[in-house]
Amino acid sequence: MDVLSTIEKFGPLQVNPEAFTEALEALQPRLYSISSSLRANPGLVSLTVDTVRYEIDNRIRLGVASTYLGDRITPGEIIKVYTQPAHSFGLPTDPNIPIIMVGPGTGLAPFRAFLQEREATKAAGKNWLFFGHQRSAYDFFYKDEIEELLSSGIITELSLAWSREGDEKHYVQDILRKEKVKVWNWLSEGAHFYVCGDAKRMAPDVERALFEIIKEEGVLNDQKASDYFSDMKLSGRYQTDVY
Ligand SMILES: Cc1cc2nc3c(=O)[nH]c(=O)nc-3n(C[C@H](O)[C@H](O)[C@H](O)COP(=O)(O)OP(=O)(O)OC[C@H]3O[C@@H](n4cnc5c(N)ncnc54)[C@H](O)[C@@H]3O)c2cc1C
Ligand SMILES: NC(=O)c1ccc[n+]([C@@H]2O[C@H](COP(=O)([O-])OP(=O)(O)OC[C@H]3O[C@@H](n4cnc5c(N)ncnc54)[C@H](OP(=O)(O)O)[C@@H]3O)[C@@H](O)[C@H]2O)c1
Repeated sequence: MDVLSTIEKFGPLQVNPEAFTEALEALQPRLYSISSSLRANPGLVSLTVDTVRYEIDNRIRLGVASTYLGDRITPGEIIKVYTQPAHSFGLPTDPNIPIIMVGPGTGLAPFRAFLQEREATKAAGKNWLFFGHQRSAYDFFYKDEIEELLSSGIITELSLAWSREGDEKHYVQDILRKEKVKVWNWLSEGAHFYVCGDAKRMAPDVERALFEIIKEEGVLNDQKASDYFSDMKLSGRYQTDVY
């Protein structure tokens, strides 16, 4: 609920309007992943912002920052930004190490940067991208770029999950499970595994699927699989940037 719908639900309010607005919190900054590589695009930084719009009490509510960026600013306008390093979320220092990236929705953003960086640095390591969203016709972010990277071999494997195209929900972790043999082979080759996007539902589900793969394909008991996974996390081979 936004401020207006809160008042509508719990009101009417008997307050001085000035005192009320003073009691509201100041607008907070929003975080966005950088979705480009400076090495591939010197002097340019891009963001991948999905606009938030939803219906609330029979009116359309617009996300403050995302629709500002998407609809209201004009080219050339100067806006206030700052950078915040994503600690423990980055490409392996060894360019030969394979990487598996799971980034449905806006979770794709940092992986676009990763792929640009791997291409710009001519990194030899294999790259496997898992992307998903509601419908391929509307939500396939950077479709042309991704297909180009696939045909040029920068993306070694591309796995796509469209959740609202069939009778049943189809999510990235479903393909992960289907591809368990290949996923385990990549992990055995030392692949780093990355997850970006929704923290509440997607990330725990992907973590669960990966744990099952480690257990089944590695033929490990719970304790050994748990040790393997912990080791991946401690050594930076399993990294997440979720929100
Ligand atoms: C690490 C990280 C990376 C992210 N990366 C991306 C990305 O690459 N792409 C992307 O699209 N999104 C990304 N997000 C989400 C993004 O930061 C914003 O949450 C999203 O764009 C919605 O912001 P909004 O202002 O449009 O929506 P709003 O709904 O207006 O605001 C979002 C939240 O701000 C608070 N808020 C809004 N108005 C008020 C108010 N009046 N008083 C108090 N609180 C208020 C509420 O908690 C609300 O849920 C990321 C988030 C994190 C944490
Ligand atoms: N810009 C925004 O839209 C925005 C703004 C603020 C915050 N957020 C938050 O940011 C996170 C990412 O949002 P997003 O808009 O990028 O995409 P999203 O909501 O994460 O949706 C992307 C895809 O993930 C699917 N999904 C839903 N549940 C899943 C699960 N358990 N496992 C795997 N996939 C699942 C969705 O399917 P279905 O929806 O068909 O189930 C959809 O196809 C979410 O937590 C969201 O609440 C987003």
